[in-house]
Amino acid sequence: MSAETRAGGGAPGYRVWAVPGIPEVQAGDDLVKVLAAAVMGEGLPGLADGDVLLVTSKIVSKAEGRIVRAGDREAAIDAETVRVVARRGTLRIVENRQGLVMAAAGVDASNTAAGTVLLLPEDPDASARVLREGLREALGVDVGVVVTDTSGRPWRSGLTDIAIGAAGVRVLDDLRGGVDAHGNPLSATVVATADELAAAGDLVKGKVSGLPVAVVRGLPHVVGEDGSGARAFVRSAADDMFRLGTSEAVREAVTLRRTVREFTDEPVDGAAVRRAVAAAITAPAPHHTTPWRFVLLESAEARVRLLDAMREAWIADLRGDGFSEESIAKRVRRGDVLRNAPYLVVPCLVMDGSHTYRDARRNASEREMFVVAAGAAVQNFLVALAGERLGSAWISSTMFCRDVVREVLALPEGWDPMGAVAVGHAAAPPRERPARVASSFISVR
Ligand SMILES: Cc1cc2nc3c(=O)[nH]c(=O)nc-3n(C[C@H](O)[C@H](O)[C@H](O)COP(=O)(O)O)c2cc1C
Repeated sequence: MSAETRAGGGAPGYRVWAVPGIPEVQAGDDLVKVLAAAVMGEGLPGLADGDVLLVTSKIVSKAEGRIVRAGDREAAIDAETVRVVARRGTLRIVENRQGLVMAAAGVDASNTAAGTVLLLPEDPDASARVLREGLREALGVDVGVVVTDTSGRPWRSGLTDIAIGAAGVRVLDDLRGGVDAHGNPLSATVVATADELAAAGDLVKGKVSGLPVAVVRGLPHVVGEDGSGARAFVRSAADDMFRLGTSEAVREAVTLRRTVREFTDEPVDGAAVRRAVAAAITAPAPHHTTPWRFVLLESAEARVRLLDAMREAWIADLRGDGFSEESIAKRVRRGDVLRNAPYLVVPCLVMDGSHTYRDARRNASEREMFVVAAGAAVQNFLVALAGERLGSAWISSTMFCRDVVREVLALPEGWDPMGAVAVGHAAAPPRERPARVASSFISVR
């Protein structure tokens, strides 16, 4: 039987049909036997070399006995979960042990007896290999097998079937290095062939019609020994630009910020710093003021001039404190964080719009309000830099020699430097720190 299906005029085409007559599968059933009998059923086109068999994972799971009591659903999801990607209420989108990112880890309460839930096959690629080999033995045919499951997609409404296991199928068709019909180079085109096959099968299997298997004929070029298994669909963490849901990413951004004191030589993108400033100036502040200014020291010359002047001021302070020259030299060396950074930012506080009272107590409180608002903006800035994959260290020094900083940087009198932020690409990950326990920081009244 020919495996090629050509539409009129020789244009490419394929056929897909559902396979009826598959009984309710039980744990321990020989699925190869069940499938071999069903595909050869009366009136069906049988199975031929180059066909692709699309098998709903539910019947694979059932045959493999991957059923647990529904009372254990949450525990079953926990056990299948490697990483929570997003959570909203009781809905959890997680990466499961198969590397698939799915609602409820792919644990399914539909299509199974009341009081039970189905887990995905333990190793869907292995399951597909068993079916492919079994069908070769039983029917003498060389077919591809795709184990499918139904999944939602980020950014797109609606569910579709995807390939979670495959054997003998070129799951990804890498067209990179080729050209399109206009001669443009294809630099990113890797076609998810096995997912397309799964979706084609779903059109005839359907969710409610109780048809768990379909056959695609006419695409023999997608079948072959060099198939890699559906595990190839799982994006590596490094390639995954969307590893977290929005709420999770916001939370992680805050904890991602750690003080980085050593940087690589890689230059800092000034546009990234400007985006971080844009985030910084959304901070809360008193009386609807905007008491922040950010001085970007983008030239090495500006940085060195400032740091040299600050060092002189610091040495003068330390001499005044009575420290020995040796001890002074040691302390001053600690200032190297700023000197070794490829980019510096001096955040400044301006008191424009602040209130003046007749007593010192309220004036001090007013000043503190503005200072904490400056802190909020700097924290925003550091978190936003972390989001740009830039490390930072907020160093106090400019606060201790404000006149010098104002003079060297030619800043207006009312600008109060609030430290300096060293910015750069981290030379090493931050040192591990034991998690702080929120309850130790909370008092409830
Ligand atoms: C106002 C302020 C001033 C700081 N000054 C310095 C400093 O002069 N030198 C320094 O190495 N780190 C400085 N830090 C950074 C702290 O040492 C750092 O935040 C602390 O060790 C906690 O580590 P983490 O930022 O990784 O959470 C300063 C932090 C703040 C908020």
